[in-house]
Amino acid sequence: MKLGLLKALYIDELKKLYRYSEAESIFYVILEWVEKKNKTHVILGLETILINTYQDILLELKSGRPVQYITNESIFYSLPIYVDENVLIPRPETEELVHWILSEQKVNTKILDIGTGSGCIALALKKGLPSSIISGCDISIKALEVAKRNANQNNLDVNFFELNILYDTINQYDIIVSNPPYIAHNEKKKMHKNVLDHEPHPALFVDDLDPLLFYKRIANQVKNTNTTAYFETSEFYTESLDQWLINEGFFTEWKSDFHGKKRFLKITY
Ligand SMILES: C[S@@+](CC[C@H](N)C(=O)[O-])C[C@H]1O[C@@H](n2cnc3c(N)ncnc32)[C@H](O)[C@@H]1O
Repeated sequence: MKLGLLKALYIDELKKLYRYSEAESIFYVILEWVEKKNKTHVILGLETILINTYQDILLELKSGRPVQYITNESIFYSLPIYVDENVLIPRPETEELVHWILSEQKVNTKILDIGTGSGCIALALKKGLPSSIISGCDISIKALEVAKRNANQNNLDVNFFELNILYDTINQYDIIVSNPPYIAHNEKKKMHKNVLDHEPHPALFVDDLDPLLFYKRIANQVKNTNTTAYFETSEFYTESLDQWLINEGFFTEWKSDFHGKKRFLKITY
């Protein structure tokens, strides 16, 4: 089959699940992954390929499986990050949180990333702040295995360890960063099938009765210390979270993401 026809087939099938531009970029990710071919090969229209592998992959994509779990790769802050179904796929918004921290913190900082998942935040911070001591923790042993694999793959020295932030106590750090679970179960109906059916639920969901649980728990642990904590948050809870923190005596500073939604928070006590 000619590459142009293959592209048309992919887009036709995937546009039932994704926007045109997303379907097109998924096609190019697969083309590059399967046989290191790119847009130029499609435009020249000279090449033919054997369709079998592409048909199998298309079936997986049509079932909603994210392309990053098929190729086992996601790029975060220019780092190649191995991902599988045990970890959340790093989101581009989260790069903005990393960027904020890197713009404010310079050298020799002791940093902990809580709920590290693939390790993307901790590893990007280590790359940007090589003299800092950086750790990442998670409740999921399988996620920690992925994070360690990513540290090796990127040759970055980050210490990953198991911790349940809802029960365990953390040591003293200069900086805490966390992108914790923050989606209430009652938001499920608005979510895309590929997230809901494939990404790990403990990474996404928090108890409907207290969606601020993780933020409160972390804030309580840094109260009365010199620690600065940075968070990614849900756009739906900014006001209630801000109010709770101010009542508890914290100073808060918010930043918006590239969609203009207030999503990033810094707190000091
Ligand atoms: C939203 S994901 C963030 C993953 C990664 N930091 C990122 O930004 O892509 C939240 C992470 O918190 C972890 N987590 C959930 N409950 C936890 C708990 N009680 N203690 C520590 N980590 C927890 C999940 O396993 C998951 O890896």
